Amino acid sequence: MLIDTHAHLEMREFNDDRDEVIKRAREAGVEYIITVGTTVESTRDAVMLADKYDFIYAAVGIHPHETKDILHPAYDIIKHFAQHKKVVAYGEIGLDYYYEHSQRNIQQRKFRDMLQEARKLELPVIIHDRDAHEDTLRILKEEWDPAIGGVMHCFSGDVEYAKQVMDLGFHISIAGPVTFPKAQALRDVVKQVPIEQMLIETDSPYLTPQPFRGKRNEPAYVRYTAEEVAKVKGLSFEDVARITSFNAMQLFGIGEVPKKGMITYPIRNSLYLNVTNRCTSACTFCVRYFSDFVKGHYLRLRDEPSAEDLLREIGDPKRFDEIVFCGYGEPTLRLDVIKAVAAEVKKKGGRVRIDTNGHGNLIHKRNILPELKGLVDAVSVSLNAQNAELYEKLSQPKFGAAAYEAVKEFIREATRYIPEVTATVVSAPGVDIEACRRIAEELGARYRVREYNVVG
Ligand code: NI
Repeated sequence: MLIDTHAHLEMREFNDDRDEVIKRAREAGVEYIITVGTTVESTRDAVMLADKYDFIYAAVGIHPHETKDILHPAYDIIKHFAQHKKVVAYGEIGLDYYYEHSQRNIQQRKFRDMLQEARKLELPVIIHDRDAHEDTLRILKEEWDPAIGGVMHCFSGDVEYAKQVMDLGFHISIAGPVTFPKAQALRDVVKQVPIEQMLIETDSPYLTPQPFRGKRNEPAYVRYTAEEVAKVKGLSFEDVARITSFNAMQLFGIGEVPKKGMITYPIRNSLYLNVTNRCTSACTFCVRYFSDFVKGHYLRLRDEPSAEDLLREIGDPKRFDEIVFCGYGEPTLRLDVIKAVAAEVKKKGGRVRIDTNGHGNLIHKRNILPELKGLVDAVSVSLNAQNAELYEKLSQPKFGAAAYEAVKEFIREATRYIPEVTATVVSAPGVDIEACRRIAEELGARYRVREYNVVG
């Protein structure tokens, strides 16, 4: 599934074949399209298109290019359209100092007016910013509520600017230029912006991606942007499509939230098993407290799956690089399920990994590691801190102060029974990355630092 979060389907470039273009988008896997107004007329036409097609939504606004000629009543008309049920955002609005068709002070005044209007309606905003980063940032800081959110459409700034706007609650939207051979700076931004904060768009009929560059753009081509983002971030095309679609659905309030948590879910070429949502830690940085989703997969379980349920979904484990018992909950709470599933996966020639908080021996009041010998190829244990005090503060273990030493002991024991043992830390405030590395080495384990606020 793909979502083109920014198209101008109402523009005259599509007058001869609009329905055909929309049909091609659907055939290319585009589930939803947001068509974005730039003038009063185009806003009206965008809303009419959204009325005609259930999978098209509209955004309403006056583009900064157009602000000079537009008189006050026009903004009242926009306000009126904003009430329509298929309108999901105010946009595109913002500042453009590159062409400067309108004076800067007029652009800024209109930008503020429309931000205030969007805020009243709690509609996210779609921001156009060209060569006006400083003023855009200042006005957003003064006028915008990060809880409502928004998107910097067709992002053209650097990593530093991306961070500043993300701090204000904005998503970064990537368009066709990311496919251009000379767009290395933009690809560097893509590399560093978390996929959880990213959207994709075409801005059609403009900004046609590489294979069709020079021709008219259309929503079906959003897949070329997704492919490029996948390449840059080392994710699969499906990962990028699913995650960016999920981001767009959350931001704009479109689509439906699934009713049942997934028990297995792919990320890259691994299959993750969601065996439990229970945990013996309450890590302050854990994704479970922020979201029911990981990389666009809904993981809140109603019932914990049986070994049979899991094996049915795994099928042939050799289809995947590895089968991973993970982490939206502590998997060793279900040791019997791990053992039954891992035995079957190994028998069929698959590879097994466990992501754990290392509390397994505390949970079962015995050394469980000999029981995993031959069943598990790799284990990643969250070391999380360089001392017991910080560990207790960050992970809030049910077992209290004794947990930290037990985790270290678990890692040490694991190296005796499991071929590949990795200690991990999250780069949270207060964590001494180097001290943790030394501890991991002393325990005989490999070491990996996970990015704060990035999962999966
Ligand atoms: Ni646009």
